[in-house]
Amino acid sequence: MRTIDDLEVSGKRVFVRADLNVPLDGDRITDDGRIRASVPTIDALRRRGARVVVAAHLGRPKGAPDPAYSLRPVAARLGELLGTEVGFATDTAGESARATSAALADGEVAVVENLRFEPGETSKDDAERGEFADRLAQLADFYVGDGFGAVHRKHASVFDLPHRLPHAVGGLVLAEVEVLRTLTGDPARPYAVVLGGSKVSDKLGVIDNLLGTADRLLIGGGMVFTFLKARGYEVGSSLLEADQLDTVREYLDRAEKQGVEIVLPVDVVAAESFSADAPHGPADADAIPADRMGLDIGPKSRELFAAKLSDARTVFWNGPMGVFEMEPYSHGTRALAQALLDSGAFTVVGGGDSAAAVRALGFDESAFGHISTGGGASLEYLEGKTLPGIEALDD
Ligand code: 3PG
Ligand code: MG
Repeated sequence: MRTIDDLEVSGKRVFVRADLNVPLDGDRITDDGRIRASVPTIDALRRRGARVVVAAHLGRPKGAPDPAYSLRPVAARLGELLGTEVGFATDTAGESARATSAALADGEVAVVENLRFEPGETSKDDAERGEFADRLAQLADFYVGDGFGAVHRKHASVFDLPHRLPHAVGGLVLAEVEVLRTLTGDPARPYAVVLGGSKVSDKLGVIDNLLGTADRLLIGGGMVFTFLKARGYEVGSSLLEADQLDTVREYLDRAEKQGVEIVLPVDVVAAESFSADAPHGPADADAIPADRMGLDIGPKSRELFAAKLSDARTVFWNGPMGVFEMEPYSHGTRALAQALLDSGAFTVVGGGDSAAAVRALGFDESAFGHISTGGGASLEYLEGKTLPGIEALDD
């Protein structure tokens, strides 16, 4: 793969596909981690005299302009972080984008509007994506793929565009892939994986694969109740994916046969309703009252999980242990992050939500081995899938 150092970018227009999909509260950015992670590549290009056109998606608008998903506040934040004026095009590949790109001087940066305002970006139809990629290609001389969080998407800006322009891989994608390669290659053992988040159905492929590579699998978050139910416990009104029970039972059997230790919480924080103010308290995992829902792992489980990580030499963590955005249900996620740090292992935090949780809970990011900018992307990598945005840069 060519890197940006292999491109003669001075005086050229360079299209950087970044992942600037940050959480917003109105037009206030609540976690700018992905913007900060995108700065080094953009800055390196700018300093070498490139005219940088930055493109990204934000949220999941339906293929048409929607002011709630405008990248304008993101462009403003990028400008602050770069310490320079950043231009903004009010469309993605139309008149405004072409004029903005044409007006860039050497070393200048502009952001074009949300890629997903165009139906061609996410289309399943190759021709429709191709038509949009053709229009994007007019904006630049080179393409740099640096949106790690989106490399698992076969989208026009991720997959089709690099086939149309001389291209290189960006520094962020390179760094992310290097870390993930150590996890799939030869991780220092014991290798423990912690999975959380709400849905088992999002994690099936990766669990399947991890049963062949990890030594220990710790499970928390909303997805754990399908595991507890599969073990025969009542889970009250907790989140449950009944249609995944058979699959989960098969995983539990296979783990036992292959000697992979599956660690489930022994207690949970059970609440009367999905609310920070609801009456709540610890309940044993095999005795969750019928009218209560588990919203976090409990105090005994926090200790159990920490103990199961204490001797690990590699830890990959994806997905919060509970509803960490609500204080009463944040303790499991906080304890887990602390346990990662205390373990002394090489720690990789995968993904949007877990990375945001680590920062929201006030941890020092640099204390972790690696905090990935891509949740779905890192899981699909660990699953062994071919990622369209990496494959396209490979040739
Ligand atoms: C993410 O937030 O996971 C990435 O930016 C990809 O976004 P998507 O899941 O909407 O494709
Ligand atoms: Mg996602």
